[in-house]
Amino acid sequence: MKRTVIFGGSFDPLHIGHENIIRNLADRFDEVIVVPTYVSPFKQAEKAASPELRLAMLRSANFPDNVIISDYEIGNSGCSYSINTVMNFASEDRKLYFAVGGEAVRTLDKWYQAEKLKRMCVFYAILRPGYDKRRDVENVEWADFCGDDISSSEVKAALGIGYGKSLVSPGVYKIIEENGLYDGYNFVGKAYERFGMKPQRIEHSFNATIEGIKLAKRYDANIKDVTVALLMHDIGKYVTVDMLKDMKIPVPDCGNLPEECRHAEYGAAICKYVYNLSDEIVNAVKYHTTCCPSMDKLTKIVALADFIEPGRKFDGVEKIREAAKNNLDEAVVMMLKSTIDYLRAQNKYVAPITIETYRKLGGKL
Ligand SMILES: [Fe+2]
Ligand SMILES: [Fe+2]
Repeated sequence: MKRTVIFGGSFDPLHIGHENIIRNLADRFDEVIVVPTYVSPFKQAEKAASPELRLAMLRSANFPDNVIISDYEIGNSGCSYSINTVMNFASEDRKLYFAVGGEAVRTLDKWYQAEKLKRMCVFYAILRPGYDKRRDVENVEWADFCGDDISSSEVKAALGIGYGKSLVSPGVYKIIEENGLYDGYNFVGKAYERFGMKPQRIEHSFNATIEGIKLAKRYDANIKDVTVALLMHDIGKYVTVDMLKDMKIPVPDCGNLPEECRHAEYGAAICKYVYNLSDEIVNAVKYHTTCCPSMDKLTKIVALADFIEPGRKFDGVEKIREAAKNNLDEAVVMMLKSTIDYLRAQNKYVAPITIETYRKLGGKL
């Protein structure tokens, strides 16, 4: 009997995280069947690559001989339940496994025809790094390796700013380039050049974006808006009033905002007048340092991701990171408290709008 594992996904695009999982599966099973799913062109917030190109990405990777790339679900071009795929590959000489993410284990009972599915295959659960929550569940076998903590949304953001090459293999990169795929954030890379963003600042912006994408998924926010706002949040960092005037960008009135907060106002003006971004994104950039009492979910996520991205190291950041996993508002209040306390300890100006926001969200001074 062959031990066969089915690994499905949209692979939009195929990234090194997927490739590592497929290689690990190939080491542990007699046969790996990789099944790219059909992606409805109508359901996507971001344009998906065509089924043919997603298949081409998988075929471009150098997988071991026991990896089979299947167009079964793509060929069905419609709603495809896992049970259909499992039934399609079932045979007398195969013991079937179905690879799932570790988090999916909680919801397996809600899958379509769950009972039948359980009878036909064993779930092979792969955890993300740092989520060691293996527990005994009927019909689930836990993989002895972890997946990488990379998401397709993150890869798309990286491609926009020239960071993509480290996240996809060369063959996949070539397909992306040749077909002009995932170009939604390419304007950001050009903006970085135009407004003199320094490499360190770009790295910080990217780290904040990755953090923001995680928060967006956790709190059900628009991933595309979060990505654009965070990639662009510090675009005003190296901009002067004279530069804005030269570029015919209306100079914002910064009132008595301290120097270190003005880049947010300049950045918002750039987002609005040069790139015509939405009011929500412009506001998120504008208030990413001071916050504001009427801040929406997008602005909260942008401010918080900027504050807790992995490069930030200050006393108390870990507690805020923990809070951000459970309660967005609570984490924002902690962030504001930390900012106010820090500025006061340094005898620095605290923007009244920051204190107002802190009180509005229930914080006490
Ligand atoms: Fe900033
Ligand atoms: Fe920042």
